[in-house]
Amino acid sequence: MLIGVPKEIKNHEYRIGLTPAGVKELVMNGHQVMVENNGGAAIGFENDQYVAAGASIIDSAEEIFAKAEMIIKVKEPQPNECRMLRPGQLLFTYLHLAPDPQQTELLVASGCTAIAYETVTDPRGGLPLLAPMSEVAGRMSIQAGAHHLEKAQGGLGALLGGVPGVAPAKVLVIGGGVVGTQAARMAVGMGADVTILDRSLPRLRQLDTEFDGRLRTVYSTADAVEQYAIEADLVVGAVLIPGAAAPKLLTRDIIGRMKKGAVVVDVAIDQGGCFETSKATTHQEPTYVVDDVVHYCVANMPGGVARTSTIALTNATLPFAVALANKGVKQALWDDEHLMNGLNVHAGKITYKAVADVLGYSFVEPKTALGA
Ligand SMILES: NC(=O)c1ccc[n+]([C@@H]2O[C@H](COP(=O)([O-])OP(=O)(O)OC[C@H]3O[C@@H](n4cnc5c(N)ncnc54)[C@H](O)[C@@H]3O)[C@@H](O)[C@H]2O)c1
Repeated sequence: MLIGVPKEIKNHEYRIGLTPAGVKELVMNGHQVMVENNGGAAIGFENDQYVAAGASIIDSAEEIFAKAEMIIKVKEPQPNECRMLRPGQLLFTYLHLAPDPQQTELLVASGCTAIAYETVTDPRGGLPLLAPMSEVAGRMSIQAGAHHLEKAQGGLGALLGGVPGVAPAKVLVIGGGVVGTQAARMAVGMGADVTILDRSLPRLRQLDTEFDGRLRTVYSTADAVEQYAIEADLVVGAVLIPGAAAPKLLTRDIIGRMKKGAVVVDVAIDQGGCFETSKATTHQEPTYVVDDVVHYCVANMPGGVARTSTIALTNATLPFAVALANKGVKQALWDDEHLMNGLNVHAGKITYKAVADVLGYSFVEPKTALGA
């Protein structure tokens, strides 16, 4: 199969759809890969590394879109990219169609087949192509929080781990899923005093076993949030209710009673945020202050560590990309119900129910749309 990897064009997006190692795997499977000139250069993946892996370097995105049978990307295609897609062509990337009627309309009009990373599932009910970015954001939340606790960044001037003779800072993690677990892991590793809240008792049991007494697990109630937030130096918001906006667990009133210079990192901001005072920020201006509490609410945290994120993403997407290239899209989808769950658009039809429902399209079962 002829595979194309264009350079990402969304503002401040430095990730790329495949690492050189990913290219090499596909080439070893007998496929050809075109990578756009300097597509990974911003994160240290140079053209010569892609060439050494067997890719050809192509100067223009237009040529890649015109020739490739499968396009592998990171972010949703921008309108001019959507207009270059054609019937029969496969797009494999994050799409997030539900809140994006324009992109949906353009993908439907293109006639292409679009598989969304974020809706591919795994046998344990997880989202294997979303998890790596949650892992990155979870780990990063503590790094960002620790940095902004420094006095010069507006924080109260506390060191997460303390030092001998000085108590460690108190970290509250709300939500013990993928993000929360990785945040807790970093906070524990830095020597902080960590409490993690969740509404799932099985999850709290797992965390209790996993961390073997090195953190406190507490059932999440409004009272618990209030009690631990008011004492905390750093709060990480990591809740998710699938398919719903994040609940506003940290109210304005609680924020107003927190320590001056405390830091709150709302990782759930991409679902609307779980603090009442949260509004999305960017890596250029990541924080703002409400009631003397520093808010960090960057909506695309993994973009800040684009090299790590690119490698983590390729690790997760590559087996699917290889299957799609080896078998062809129809066979690969028929053979793997979890990959099939990723199919959002096929030949002008919406094949993902939640997207069809929210945007007013008629839903066509993926298997029906694909045909035998
Ligand atoms: N900002 C970013 O760059 C970025 C990057 C990756 C993920 N995210 C977001 O982070 C959030 C968490 O993602 P995840 O992968 O960890 O999800 P997840 O499903 O693995 O975990 C969510 C956890 O929240 C818990 N929860 C639900 N309601 C709760 C409540 N009231 N109190 C306490 N816990 C509660 C659930 O039981 C679950 O364990 C999502 O909104 C995701 O979109 C943001």
